[in-house]
Order: sequence, then structure tokens, then C-alpha cells
Amino acid sequence: MEKKYKRTTVTSALPYANGPVHIGHLAGVYVPADIYVRYLRLKGEDVIFIGGSDEHGVPVTIRARKEGITPQDVVDRYHKIIKDSFAEFGISFDVYSRTTSKTHHKLASDFFRTLYEKNEFVEQTSEQYYDEEAKQFLADRYIVGECPRCHAPGAYGDQCEKCGSTLSPEELINPVSKLSGSKPVKRPTKHWFLPLNKHQDWLKKWILEDHKEWRPNVYGQCKSWLDMDLMPRAVTRDLEWGIPVPVEGAEGKVLYVWFDAPIGYISNTKELCDANPEKYGNWEKWWKDSDTRLIHFIGKDNIVFHCIVFPAMLKAEGSYILPDNVPSNEFLNLEGDKISTSRNWAVWLNEYLVDFPGKQDVLRYVLTANAPETKDNDFTWKDYQARNNNELVAIYGNFINRALVLTSKYFDGKVPALKELTDYDKETLKEFADVKNRLEQMLDNFKFRDAQKEAMNLARIGNKYLAETEPWKLVKTDMDRTSSILHIALQIAANLAIAFEPFLPFSSEKLRKMLNMQTFEWNQLGRVDLLPEGSVLGKAELLFEKIEDALVDAQVKRLHDIKAQNEAAAAEAEAKEKSASWKPEPVKEYADFEGFEKLDIRVGTILECTNVPKSDKLLKFKIDDGMGGRTILSGIAKSYPNPEELVGKQVCFVANFKPRKMMGLESQGMIMSAVNSDGKLVVISPSKEVANGCEVG
Ligand code: MF3
Ligand code: ZN
Repeated sequence: MEKKYKRTTVTSALPYANGPVHIGHLAGVYVPADIYVRYLRLKGEDVIFIGGSDEHGVPVTIRARKEGITPQDVVDRYHKIIKDSFAEFGISFDVYSRTTSKTHHKLASDFFRTLYEKNEFVEQTSEQYYDEEAKQFLADRYIVGECPRCHAPGAYGDQCEKCGSTLSPEELINPVSKLSGSKPVKRPTKHWFLPLNKHQDWLKKWILEDHKEWRPNVYGQCKSWLDMDLMPRAVTRDLEWGIPVPVEGAEGKVLYVWFDAPIGYISNTKELCDANPEKYGNWEKWWKDSDTRLIHFIGKDNIVFHCIVFPAMLKAEGSYILPDNVPSNEFLNLEGDKISTSRNWAVWLNEYLVDFPGKQDVLRYVLTANAPETKDNDFTWKDYQARNNNELVAIYGNFINRALVLTSKYFDGKVPALKELTDYDKETLKEFADVKNRLEQMLDNFKFRDAQKEAMNLARIGNKYLAETEPWKLVKTDMDRTSSILHIALQIAANLAIAFEPFLPFSSEKLRKMLNMQTFEWNQLGRVDLLPEGSVLGKAELLFEKIEDALVDAQVKRLHDIKAQNEAAAAEAEAKEKSASWKPEPVKEYADFEGFEKLDIRVGTILECTNVPKSDKLLKFKIDDGMGGRTILSGIAKSYPNPEELVGKQVCFVANFKPRKMMGLESQGMIMSAVNSDGKLVVISPSKEVANGCEVG
């Protein structure tokens, strides 16, 4: 439903302050939100953009425990890092605050009280896992055990990371407390629940009937929730870190992080308005006036909280408006793999800025071009480089550069006159006259990817125009025509500065200075009189620079190294696990001595040991067997990643196996090795040096 509105409150999910932010955050939430807000501002609309850090929750306490610091230390550190990264990327929040602020503690606490007093909660006592040694109830993440689905060890109380199943702590086989390692016991504890079931009917109508325009991924997820029976949800927890539950008999309990965090949007608005009432007015108008539009930008894992739980909270409170739209993106992958903080599989914004100084817009551009708006998408460094070199540099930058350099060369850096329009000029102008409409159509519907493409299309039009009219040639024969062409090209350039502002704010600012644009409004888009004849241009600079292979290759290598480290760590963990449960094989049946005597086992010295090309199993040995030497192939490459280390060692080998071919090579025997408890093979050597060719028996 399109609604008439006076102002817009835009929120973006509050990231957990338990680590820095990465490209997935930027692509999923903050770049799209920022594009949208910049667009509204450029149109002169009344809008606030609310951000902040989500500083409660178990992940923060886990990190603190791991590092031996307090939760407050953790959030202080990451709040700063995250806030700085956003600022550097031009994410133009009106406020970026935090859920540990005083304002928020009070507001969230009052919010809970209001619902409590209105009887909007149900109280329920249930049995929860309790650690008797650590003397506390255990959050789901603090309980580990065997996964009931895939039987992997070490599954968490809320999820198995091996098979991805969502779990509840009760389902874990042999649960253990992560705090003390002891076996948790069940204890009764009282909690407050938001009875979502009571809200189901209006939620159904409100979303499924009145908001059919929401993105299909959002609508679909809501529908699948609303088609089931909603259950009461606990909004309190037995934890120390968080906002204390403000009612009697709730000692040692805090508000569940997903209860307090979205209220953070409101608290941060209040902070903003209280600090600057002239500019922003009373905070309540941004949350309670029916002519305010509320829009939440989030990632897909936040959909149910923003479309069902938070609206139910707002409705229960009674004085708030509900969101008009919840544009949620899917996930961005990195080089084909899911982004993961724990596996360090990410491009961290703070690190990107060190490796690519000044290239904020390039990343913004690539993330929007590949935005996971309708499905998961992949970020690759090759694509990043290609989009920079083939689009930003070759199309947009190239066009601007040609227009400016020619003007400076032939017209002394002043906007030349428009003498007359040819048919071709008119055709070109017609092509971009409609760009404003098209862009609005897309931006109003949160189609940022298409919108950016449309903006780039404007640069394409400009580029083509110069390529076809070739003013650099005409300059020798027809100054009037050259003048008109550059006049038009410069108007297109000015349009580009406006059209790209929401997407590439740094470049737009640069361009705006180069063009010396006096006014800068969305409504000017599509006009061809933005730069008056005779106005003096600023200094021409390159808008974008080519990115060389070496730069992106280094990033790919970094990721390769991380992957190798992760794999090695996983293999080591697996081997450890294997050898922990290892027992010797039972001894085989009696054998007779003749059988043994048939084998001719000898000692030899390894002269060479190399990997067999195209095989990850085989090693090729050259052995001094005291009889002229021989070649033996052995499938132990996995156990000896550096085969050279074996050179010079003596080994035992079976000397009388019939030679056989493997991978086109002949093997003349078999190296003997022991199979260790971790599955690795270890070659057998005599305990002291003996003559090569000695028999073993
Ligand atoms: N911290 C949550 C996450 O990263 C998002 C919270 S959004 C909020 O998934 F508004 F509810 F705070
Ligand atoms: Zn599992």
C-alpha cells in the first residue's frame, strides 16, 4: 500500500558489537539503507537514519570469556571499530549509538514495564539447564553435546554447525556445560513471554493482506511463519549481561537481547532528537505519528524479529506505528563460501580500508552491482577488479575525464556555449530525459541494483555521445560544433554527479567540485541547464583508477591461505578426535612361519623421495638396496607433506613383490609403515644403521 507521508524513519539492523563488520553487513544492510536515505535527502524529504551497536546478548559474553575481559570491554572495542568503519564508508547515519547507553536502558526498561502493567505478557515457569558448579542457568550457546541429527560432537544448544540443524538444548545427547565442563541439571525458572499467538490474527491480515508489496523473500518467510501456529516467546533470560528485568522477583534476569535491541532504534532516535531538537524535533513524531513512514533495512536472518516479534511488541505497547516496509536482503558469499566470522572468511571493512585506501566507492559500487536482493550472491575479487576497470574506469571515469580534459584544453576550463542542437544531440538528450523517472521508480521500490545500473547507463550514453561525435577531431575544423558537444557532455556529467550521489557519494562530491556545481538537488536530474555557459570548472582529476592484478591477487592469496589454515586446523582436530578414541586392532588368527618366510624383507636407504605428478596419494622412492637400486611407489603422500624429509633415512621394504605399474610408473616392492592412531603412516626404520640390502626376519 502506497501511503501518503510527511517523514520517513529509516533504521538499519544494529550489528552485534562482538567483532568488526565485513562486506556482508555492508552489502546486506548498510549500503542499501544509505542509498535510500541519501536519495530521500537529495529530494529534500524529511528523513532520519538510525543506526547503532547491539551490545547485549550471549555472543558478547562468550567473546569476553574467551579473552578474559569484561563484556563492556568487548563492546567498547567493537563499537568504536564498527562506528569508524561505517563513517569511513560514508554510511550517513544521523545517529549511531549503542544499546549500553543510559537512554536505552531506561527506555527499554520502561517499555517492558508498560507491557507488564498492561498484562501483555504471560509468566511461565519451566525447567532449564543449570550449571551447579558455575551456579548459573545456561544460555543455549553455553551447552554443547552430540547432535541428535548427524551425531557430530560439539553441537551447540541452539544449532549444530556440522549439519546446520536448529536445535533446542533438550535435544542434545550427553549435554555438557561449556562454563565448567560439568553435566547440567534441570531447574525451574520463571520467565516472561510475549504471547505471539494472541497477535496472530492481526499480524496475518496486516502482512499477508495489506503488505503484498513487500519483497517476495520477506513476504514468503512471514507467510510460512504465519501459516503455522505462533507460540509465546520468552523475552527474558537468566543472564548477567543485559538490561535487568524491571519487576520484583526477577533478580538475576535480564531482557532477552532481541527484546531490547529493536527498542534501540527508538532510544537512538530519542538521543538524536534530545541532543538537537531544533533540527529533528520531538522524537515521538518519528515513531508515533501516523504520517511517519517506518522502514527497517535488515538481513534475512532478522526477518521474523522485524516483521512479527517487534511489531507485536509495538502493537502491545499501543502508541507506536508499525513498519511500512522491511527491505531485507539475502546473503552475500565470498569467493563461493559462506562468510564466517569464526573461520575468518570475510573481507573486514577496517582491513579493506588499509589495503584499498580511498576506494570506498569502488566497494560500494561492486556490492550494489552484486547486491543479494533476491537471492544469495557471490563476491569475488576478480569481479571486483573487472567492475572497477571495465565499468567505473572505462565508462564513468573515462567519460568524465574526456569531457573535462577537452574543455580545459580548448575552452580554457569554462563551460562552452550551446550553439545549436543536431538531430543526434536531440536523440541523445531524449535518451536521458527519462532517467529521473526510471531511477525513482526503482529506488522507491528498493531496487538498488537496477537503479545503479540505470545511473551507469547515463554514463554509457555520455560515453557513446563523445565516441560518435568525436569532438577531439572536430576541434580543428568546427569550433562551434565542438562547443555544443562539450556543453552537452558537461550537462550529462552534472547529471551523473546527482544520479550517482546515493551510490557513490565520495566520487559525486569530487565530481561536483570538478564541475563547480552550485546547486545539487534530485529535482535537477534530467535537465540540461545545470552548468551555465561560461561557468568556470574546477581542476580535473581522475574519478577512478585502474586496479592492477597484483592487488587483487594478493587478496585471493590471503583467502587461499586462510582456507588452507582452516583445513589444516579441521584435519588436526579430526585426527585428534580419532586418536583419542583409538584402540589397537584385535590380533589376527595364528599364521605359520612358512608364510612369513616367503616374504623377502630388506633394508635400504632412501636416495630420492618425490610426489608423483597428478597423484595426491603416491610418493616415488629411489632406494639404495645394495643391489643396484630400485624404484618403489608408496601411497603415503598424505602422511608426508614434505617428502624430502625422508631422504637419507633407512627403511624396510618388501623386495619380492612382483613389479606393478601405477600412474604409468613401475613399482618394485613395498615400503613398510605403521598406521598410527591418527590414521597417519610412519615408515619403519632399523633402530641403528645397517648395510643396505640386509634381510629382515
Ligand atoms: N544484532 C542483530 C544481528 O546482527 C541485529 C539486531 S537488529 C535490532 O543479527 F534492531 F533488532 F537491533
Ligand atoms: Zn548435526
